[in-house]
Amino acid sequence: MNAPKNALLLIGSAKKPGASASEALGGYLVRQLAARGQASETRYVARTMRSESRIGELLAAVERADVFVLAFPLYVDSLPYLVTKALERIAESRQGQSAEGAAQFVAIVNSGFPEAVHNQTALAICRQFAKEAGFRWAGGLALGGGAPFSGKPLEEAGGMAHKVIAALDTAAAALALGQPIPDEAVAALANPVMSPRFYTLMGGMGWRLEGLRNGVYRQLRARPFAS
Ligand SMILES: Cc1cc2nc3c(=O)[nH]c(=O)nc-3n(C[C@H](O)[C@H](O)[C@H](O)COP(=O)(O)O)c2cc1C
Repeated sequence: MNAPKNALLLIGSAKKPGASASEALGGYLVRQLAARGQASETRYVARTMRSESRIGELLAAVERADVFVLAFPLYVDSLPYLVTKALERIAESRQGQSAEGAAQFVAIVNSGFPEAVHNQTALAICRQFAKEAGFRWAGGLALGGGAPFSGKPLEEAGGMAHKVIAALDTAAAALALGQPIPDEAVAALANPVMSPRFYTLMGGMGWRLEGLRNGVYRQLRARPFAS
């Protein structure tokens, strides 16, 4: 099998460029592919899905890619609306294409809840997309409790990123050879970065701090429509 030459990263977060955990994860993976000689380009659904000409550019970029990486946040146990819309347009434009010799498709999803298992339905949807759009399914990576990784490259996220980086390195090494992501990388990423109990405690503290900052601390338990 020929080594892939072009990687496309599609960011599915609604956050600004540079602000999301999706971009931290997907960006790191694609930089590892670039370090192995692949050309790479990055697109954002929030910008792309606004105009037909940008959707056309995305479809052309998908056709150029040997590795198509979709990185997105979990929204309501599923894919964000604009990601679904983008995948529908891609599948529509690739009707009748066979997966044999086709580009690899990789999905990376991160959730707010600390347990990676919440992402399984979203990954099943991505796998079905790969089948219907004629891609080779290279695997799905799920990270629970992704929030601490938003807003900066993974390389700058300190010690808590070590396990995440190691898992993505293993994934990149396989993808660069045209192979699917090894199960060990999937399992390593799904392993919680911190204990769910500690994560929930920190999340609760963050919530109360936001309440204080916004002058609504005493209203956090308000139930204005309860009656
Ligand atoms: C509209 C919306 C729905 C969400 N639904 C879920 C959910 O069902 N389960 C979950 O664990 N996290 C949920 N989250 C949290 C995000 O998945 C989480 O904050 C993620 O780290 C954001 O990633 P990003 O920085 O790449 O956008 C939701 C967030 C938003 C804004």
